[in-house]
Amino acid sequence: MRKSISGFSKLSKSKKIDWITEHYFSNTEDAKIVLKQYWNTNDKLQQLHDEFIENTISNFYLPLGVAPNFLINETLYTIPMAIEESSVVAAASKSAKFWLDRGGFKAKVLSTTKIGQVHFIYHGNVKTLQAYFKSVKPKLIEDTKSITKYMERRGGGIMDIQLKDKTQNISGYYQLHATFETLDAMGANFINSCLEQFATTFKAEAKNFEDFSSEEKSIDIIMSILSNYVPECLVRAEVSCTIKELHNDNTILPEVFAEKFLQAVKIAEVEPYRAVTHNKGIMNGIDAVVLATGNDFRAVEAGAHAFASRNGKYSSLTHATIENDIFKFWIEIPLSLGTVGGITALHPLAKLSLELLNNPSAKELMKIVAVAGLAQNFAAIHSLTTTGIQQGHMKMHLINMLNQYNANTSEKNALIEHFKTNVVTHNAVVEALNELRLTIND
Ligand code: MEV
Repeated sequence: MRKSISGFSKLSKSKKIDWITEHYFSNTEDAKIVLKQYWNTNDKLQQLHDEFIENTISNFYLPLGVAPNFLINETLYTIPMAIEESSVVAAASKSAKFWLDRGGFKAKVLSTTKIGQVHFIYHGNVKTLQAYFKSVKPKLIEDTKSITKYMERRGGGIMDIQLKDKTQNISGYYQLHATFETLDAMGANFINSCLEQFATTFKAEAKNFEDFSSEEKSIDIIMSILSNYVPECLVRAEVSCTIKELHNDNTILPEVFAEKFLQAVKIAEVEPYRAVTHNKGIMNGIDAVVLATGNDFRAVEAGAHAFASRNGKYSSLTHATIENDIFKFWIEIPLSLGTVGGITALHPLAKLSLELLNNPSAKELMKIVAVAGLAQNFAAIHSLTTTGIQQGHMKMHLINMLNQYNANTSEKNALIEHFKTNVVTHNAVVEALNELRLTIND
């Protein structure tokens, strides 16, 4: 019978581990060994990780890989990627190399505005509310000065606040809808602090607004929070070449490949079942760079998928055309990223990843991340419309399967050689490994 516990967060790390292993594991000591083998031997570094979140018991490693040869707006990058999926970095690298020989990627930030809202309920006269908002707006801005002054000094801050009437959706529901420019910061803390101050001022000042009746004075603040939907924080990345240049092997004619590629993108534009998988492949590249640079991949994911549904139907984030013999392939995606703040300077590997990218501004990072998504999608569609995805994917996954069956180095080498000319499937790997072991033991 499992037991609940109170005061767990107050226990020391080792007492937490004692409690967990005692209650959830048949072999307490083995579980402790697994947890502790991921502790960093550098106590300071371990403490840093312990303090990122509550109740840390160990570290969860992901490989940090790099994809070189990304030419973006004439600058060469090696892109850091934190991801567990076998084929992602290989696919990104392949795409980067392919486009390196065809002029590289062109990327452009289209907008950088972020949004936050104070949601509140008011059942009085709308005209009086509008008059109140007009009169209190300068004070809303004024009262956030201590929060905004450094951001303003650098050229950012609050861009505007609007009163939005949402009473058609919910009785009495209104919003203070604010727009922000947060420069190189992702800005979540900045935006949320401003919003909470707006809410405090908005509620307090209502008490002094003479035109409000006594009921109208009691505005009910529901919540104040930034939005992770950032369609006005948008970046575009693009590749293009002549159809002839699309040729890179002898298996398919370039014009046939271009046409199939175009159809594959069109299918993802109109068919949500395909669009989700298509965009998942894009997010393989995007999340890996977002994570490696210490950014919030959940925010990026939520915003990207909302954007993909902006026309009322979930659709592809990438698009392609063939016009006058030119193949063009592009992505437009909202990306709210930071290169200062958060854990960007705190997590040593995030810091290193940013340095590898030449310490980009948030705008530059938006371009790099969008390119990683486009490159990933190009590689996926290339495989899907030619060899199929499993060939490359299973080749990369082979080593995982060999590790799963505790293959030693010589078994690994023998089977990697074997599968250069044989199709990798789970069964084929198990059979080949068993056969090899039998031969060796004979
Ligand atoms: C696998 O992680 C991603 C793909 O399924 C993406 C796609 O189908 O476009 C290969």
